[in-house]
Amino acid sequence: MASNNRLDLIVVGSGPGGYVAAARAAQLGLSVACIEKDERLGGVCLNVGCIPSKALLDSSEHYHMAKTRFADHGIQTGRIRLDLGTMMKRKETVVQGLTENVRSLLEGSKVRIIRGTAILKGNDRVAVTTESRNKKPEMLEATSILLATGSLPVTPPDLAFDNNRIISSTEALSLDTVPKHLIIVGGGYIGLELGSVWLRLGAKVTVLEMLPQIAGALDSLAARTLQRILAKQGMIFKLGARVTGAKPSGQQVKVAIETGDKRETLTGDRVLVAVGRKPNTDGLGLDAAGVALNEKTGHIQVDESYQTTAEGIYAIGDLIAGPALAHKASAEGAAVVERLARRPGLVNYDTIPSVIYTFPEVASVGLTEAQARERAIGYCVGTFPFTGTGRARCMGETDGFVKMISDAKTDRVLGVHIIGPRAAEMIGECVLAMEFGASAEDIARTVHGHPTFSEGLQEAASVATHCSIYRGPEKK
Ligand code: NAI
Repeated sequence: MASNNRLDLIVVGSGPGGYVAAARAAQLGLSVACIEKDERLGGVCLNVGCIPSKALLDSSEHYHMAKTRFADHGIQTGRIRLDLGTMMKRKETVVQGLTENVRSLLEGSKVRIIRGTAILKGNDRVAVTTESRNKKPEMLEATSILLATGSLPVTPPDLAFDNNRIISSTEALSLDTVPKHLIIVGGGYIGLELGSVWLRLGAKVTVLEMLPQIAGALDSLAARTLQRILAKQGMIFKLGARVTGAKPSGQQVKVAIETGDKRETLTGDRVLVAVGRKPNTDGLGLDAAGVALNEKTGHIQVDESYQTTAEGIYAIGDLIAGPALAHKASAEGAAVVERLARRPGLVNYDTIPSVIYTFPEVASVGLTEAQARERAIGYCVGTFPFTGTGRARCMGETDGFVKMISDAKTDRVLGVHIIGPRAAEMIGECVLAMEFGASAEDIARTVHGHPTFSEGLQEAASVATHCSIYRGPEKK
């Protein structure tokens, strides 16, 4: 370590990619600065993404359960009323606590935290500007620079946000009244999660999805089941519906839709546009530094060590290709700095779980059936419905299933798709099993606690292994 402004590593961005990389690098003995433009650390995930949405999902689920399900359990309540202000304050407290944890982690690891906007000035230096006009940009130098500035919502030109009637997920996490009719453009992660929050709190919710299936990346059986369950809860779906524009007028907003040859207009009081996210690369000075983008997707191009086309400059998380998931960014952040510290750092992209926090939750890892078919892999499928597990019956939540896909020749687990309560926690066992190269039989022979939801996983594994071992490869 040399002067205060000469470091081993500069990390730009303090989200789950950046803060994990900065802390890990410091723990490995590197001198590190982490530059963040916002006052609060933690990036989109902690401030306006994963964490506040889960806080609202949990609160709204309690409200909905109290209103609709407590009576089934023999619990009588008075009139259940919503105090949205308190719900929002609680969410804010959760976020505040976690962002402070990130600060403590970085400070405790001796990472220098710098507030400001970073611009690359070559492959070993960065200028940091602050909002204060009188302050000259601070120059920092480092052997390596790691870009971890995340992503922004995609804004289609005919659906420009006005932050009032036409909103992104950021505003949808902080509304001060329950919309009468929330129209959601995009039936992906954000649309389904935030749609669930406002549906439970009393809004009419219509989801417009241009593809024939919601949550396009999901296994199609899981996607169809999720849609059926959410529709039963009251969510309205229009599939194959392309939104061609939205116009606010007074307290309302009109949304134009094309479904095949049919054109129609829907009227609501808010429109949430959730049609994907794009890499946040503007203003970083990438061009001048020689950092190339993929022209089609806008992602930063990296090699297998996450190095960009400029030597010494690295990029991770939503800036590069792959799923835009916090845990993928964290894994890449740890891997890149481990390599910089001359240790092995690897991410297994075959075992990155994904979860949609609806009720019930949907959790997946590995290949879908369609992907196994595309790759011409002979596979077996083991499915088990939660109606067959005692724990689900005790809870009164039997919707959903576990679907396991295994290699027909080797019995190795290729993918697992779960829809049901606690799916987000259950998928951890599947990720670990796949990391260790487990076969379906390994899971089927593993003793699972009774009564638990994870017995459904064991049962699905028994069905899959029965197919691969005892019946021989199924012809698909
Ligand atoms: P998404 O990619 O999940 O879904 C966007 C949907 O919008 C797609 O189904 C697409 O077909 C549809 N669409 C695009 N243009 C349209 C149009 N004009 N009309 C109608 N439909 C249209 O993107 P989303 O929901 O914005 O989330 C962004 C990313 O954030 C996700 O891909 C995910 O990586 C991350 N995320 C993860 C969460 C989690 O892990 N639980 C929660 C929320 C977001």
